[in-house]
Amino acid sequence: MHKNRLRLVGALAAVLVAGGMAAPAQAHDKQPTLADLAQRHGRYFGSATDNPELVDEPYKAVLGSEFDQITPGNGMKWYATEPQQGVFDWTAGDEIVNLARAHHQKVRGHTLVWHSQLPDWLTSKEWTAKDLRAVLKKHIQTEVRHYRGKVFAWDVVNEAFNEDGTYRETIFYKTLGPGYIADALRWAHQADPKVKLYLNDYNIEAIGAKSDAYYKLAKELKAQGVPLNGIGLQTHLALQYGYPTTLEDNLRRFSKLGLDTALTEVDIRMILPATEEKLAEQATWYADLTDACLAVRRCVGITIWDYTDKYSWIPAFFEGEGAALPYDEQLQPKPAYFAIRDALK
Ligand code: G3I
Repeated sequence: MHKNRLRLVGALAAVLVAGGMAAPAQAHDKQPTLADLAQRHGRYFGSATDNPELVDEPYKAVLGSEFDQITPGNGMKWYATEPQQGVFDWTAGDEIVNLARAHHQKVRGHTLVWHSQLPDWLTSKEWTAKDLRAVLKKHIQTEVRHYRGKVFAWDVVNEAFNEDGTYRETIFYKTLGPGYIADALRWAHQADPKVKLYLNDYNIEAIGAKSDAYYKLAKELKAQGVPLNGIGLQTHLALQYGYPTTLEDNLRRFSKLGLDTALTEVDIRMILPATEEKLAEQATWYADLTDACLAVRRCVGITIWDYTDKYSWIPAFFEGEGAALPYDEQLQPKPAYFAIRDALK
């Protein structure tokens, strides 16, 4: 009840901002940030970012002040970090790590093993299991070593399962079998015994075939003593598909396995145009997922997949959809922003 009232106040503030009646920027700056509020619960509140955006000073100002955690959207992926076999390039990832350090923000490493955005030298060749194992091990260990002490967590394997809970037939699965996941975790752990190691995927927010596959695998890996610390739920939601009402229960069952969880790539897209009603519903969803994370002790933090609609991946990937983030394209907070604040209060 109290919470709902707060949300109404937040929504009103949003209307005032939208109507141009916002308090001056200085007054807004004095408010606690999302990061400040999340820290009171022992959580972080982060944003993804990407290198091309870092020339945008107003964008960088909000990125550096409102959040206490950063994830590089592309800069640490295999195509960026090992563009030729055995030739490593840390330029993009380092730029983001350095920016984050300057603002005392922690960094999630994303991602070591993924079927997408692989370099051509890797995908254009038929590999023997022996050779691919060696290539994978070297990639993981070189990158984890490079970022040792600079990232607090890694998405070691990203998107390993299909929607029905079967293994995705990636180059790694097809060549090495399902054991590549345990191997990847062990290799990463050898290279940095302190960093938290995650498996990360989308459409695993609700309890269902795909999240069940993670639950089963996580249980097996823990039983075998494989170094797995957490499950990342990407949380790319869409208003037209409904809210994952079992999110909190789902987070809790992973906690009970002794695992951390995190909402790692949150956005909530909608079919455009964005109406007041849709933005209000989106705000409620952002508040609800924040509540779900706060309700489960081992849900360690929330990362939005960039913070502004200006740099969202959605419009390029889903035609006619967008407006997925808590700040609009002019970097103004939307109702979702105020709803998150209220949920964190
Ligand atoms: O680097 C080229 C550039 O040279 C070229 O001019 C430009 C023209 O389109 O494309 C650039 O590559 C783009 C790349 O991002 C870097 O900006 C690709 O086209 C584009 O497809 C790629 O999109 C990324 C996407 O992963 C690829 O699947 C998004 O930025 C990134 O936000 C997104 O992130 C993923 C997570 O890693 C995993 N979970 C899903 C999430 C959303 O797709």
